Amino acid sequence: MKTEKTQKNDDLMSLIQTLVETPGPSGQEHRIRETIKEMVTGLADEIRTDALGNLLCRMGSKQANGKRIMVSAHIDEIGLMVIHVDDNGFARFIPVGGINPLTCLGGRVIFMNGARGVIGAERLEPNTMPKLENLFIDTGATSAADCPVKIGDVCGFDRPMLDLGKRISAKSMDDRIAAVIAIMAMRELAALPAAKRGPNEVWFVFSTQEEVGIRGATTAAYGVDPELGFAIDVTLTGDTPRAYKRPMALGKGACIKVRDSSFIADTRVVDWMINEAKSLGIPYQMEVLDAGGTDGRAIQMTRAGVPAGCISLACRYVHSPSEMVDKDDLNACIKLTAGLVSKEVKL
Ligand code: CO
Ligand code: ZN
Repeated sequence: MKTEKTQKNDDLMSLIQTLVETPGPSGQEHRIRETIKEMVTGLADEIRTDALGNLLCRMGSKQANGKRIMVSAHIDEIGLMVIHVDDNGFARFIPVGGINPLTCLGGRVIFMNGARGVIGAERLEPNTMPKLENLFIDTGATSAADCPVKIGDVCGFDRPMLDLGKRISAKSMDDRIAAVIAIMAMRELAALPAAKRGPNEVWFVFSTQEEVGIRGATTAAYGVDPELGFAIDVTLTGDTPRAYKRPMALGKGACIKVRDSSFIADTRVVDWMINEAKSLGIPYQMEVLDAGGTDGRAIQMTRAGVPAGCISLACRYVHSPSEMVDKDDLNACIKLTAGLVSKEVKL
């Protein structure tokens, strides 16, 4: 017989598995969006999809002392786009988002049409690093004519999720794990009695095209017109051998972002997050990220400007097919997200 705790873990793992294993590189989010839409139907009071394919889910309506809050988790993933197929059926590609050639080698990919392939490399001079233009996708085709993919087709990495006990590894933890956090927070909110859900109108946005320049959240923020908002995303760590010096580490709690390369979090939002984490006893760590951007920028810069921040989940090997996160950090992020949006906010 399974204990309640094991059952809860199994449910969470299967939710994560579904989300990380559904292909959806930037601009190809239709399938992952439909998957998430099914999961949140019944939790939200209103669901709509905008022109860029963002899934916008409203919970609650704004009361006198409430705020319209936008919470954004991007649902696109990095991928590869075919630009040429040669006579022997080898497909050359360009990156969709930040792709490192080293993490491509020996990798497998899955196209939106279901075609699969492996990534091969040209013979390289000794001691040279491969560039993306030295790599190709081998779909098993024997000629251009029987190649199952054509110019413009897009694929993502193909790799199953791995449950490592306290930690989990998968492709596209960036940022499907944030979609998991948002969905779990929505469930927590929905499970509260109406009187305890707070005075806010909360828009959970599952945004598109973040990996190619924070595009989906830009139109979503304009459409939602929030008074306050935050992104949920993964962040880099400094806790692996000979890593770049960074304060973030797996297992130290939810990361509260101070800045990344795309924006500086509003100090009032940072304090709001710290205070909520403290009052709920949620472990947290401060995040200063030297590279990368998040949907927080789009929220902050929309219209005449909005106080914005970001809750991040520490993640190793970001943008590789084996990104890794910590389950306790994941739970901390869920609790913090649900806690923040379910109370009156005084910045
Ligand atoms: Co990313
Ligand atoms: Zn991301």
